[in-house]
Amino acid sequence: MRVNGTPYRTVWIERSEMTATVYLIDQNRLPFDFAVVACPGHVATARAIQEMTVRGAPAIGAAAGFALAQAFHEAQATDADPWVSDGATGRRGDGAFHEARDADADPWAFVRAARARIEATRPTARDLFFATERVWAAAEAMSSLAAATRAAFDAAQALASASVAACRAIGEAGEPLIPDRARVLTHCNAGWLACVDYGTATAPLYLAASRGKRLHVWVDETRPRSQGARLTAWELHGEGIPHRIIADNAAASLMSRGEVDLVIVGADRIAANGDVANKIGTLEKALCAREFGIPFYVAAPHSTFDPRVPHGKAIPIEERSPDEVLYQTGPDESGMLRRIRVAAPGSSAFNPAFDVTPAHLITGIITERGVLRRGV
Ligand code: MRU
Repeated sequence: MRVNGTPYRTVWIERSEMTATVYLIDQNRLPFDFAVVACPGHVATARAIQEMTVRGAPAIGAAAGFALAQAFHEAQATDADPWVSDGATGRRGDGAFHEARDADADPWAFVRAARARIEATRPTARDLFFATERVWAAAEAMSSLAAATRAAFDAAQALASASVAACRAIGEAGEPLIPDRARVLTHCNAGWLACVDYGTATAPLYLAASRGKRLHVWVDETRPRSQGARLTAWELHGEGIPHRIIADNAAASLMSRGEVDLVIVGADRIAANGDVANKIGTLEKALCAREFGIPFYVAAPHSTFDPRVPHGKAIPIEERSPDEVLYQTGPDESGMLRRIRVAAPGSSAFNPAFDVTPAHLITGIITERGVLRRGV
């Protein structure tokens, strides 16, 4: 998508003989500041995933694939700089020194440890594991480390490009579901920032708008991190799509008054029985939509499906820091980003990042291969 006329992907990699740098749009600074972060090694990229500089399942997947390719690059560098894997922020990652030394000693042990580090960042997002499994399989099949490194880069690049194509196809599959003048509610950010491009839940909206359909999007704020209010609203504003941000607890009332025609959300992991893990609060919207007879769609590529997980209860749910509930960050009047406490001093918080919507509440799953409906 374009930002001020310049086309961007959310995440990409640039490689030379000596360097392998992952670039990310810094989603923690949006919508107040548009900045691109450079991660020169896999530790920095893994940290960016964990700290949600890059977030959203498909974008996490692309970043994880690139991070593993970076680890192969680091393993291959015989004169490994001990700090090479954590240079992005100038901070030293836990164990970075020892791991680089290990890379000299046993490059395969090094990349195995790197893979474990990357996979420990965001446990719910299936796309992350989809990417590391594929990049690993491509590299493992090679007979030399140099060939493995090339294969890892090719696989990671191919995954990122396939993600773009999948999201574009999700747009085509979902666009006919959106009537002219539709009032669509979405939760969190399943937009182009959450993917490599286009988005999942937003891809049908962008396509419908480009084909002249008039839309209005209700954007759930999405506490605690406010991905809706910060990121989805920023995207829709950039695309010129009419929208309004609503407090998370406003959706039921809007639905009861007939002001929502359909709901589209993304997914972090879809179990074999069709249960969907997505941003905390999604389940509530699905229950409300069922109560008021409103179609509830999930948009996701096949990389988000996890056939090895039989049902939603078996999906690992990430729990994040209580601070995300207790504090909010935003610019003060001078434009300086500040963190302020918004909860009673002395109280703590519980912060599960995702919930599971059972398959029976879902009208259809919009994939790059078409719309899946229960029992069809
Ligand atoms: O914690 P986040 O911001 O990574 O959560 C994002 C979501 O829940 C998205 O809806 C999901 O990853 C799908 S993104 C196309």
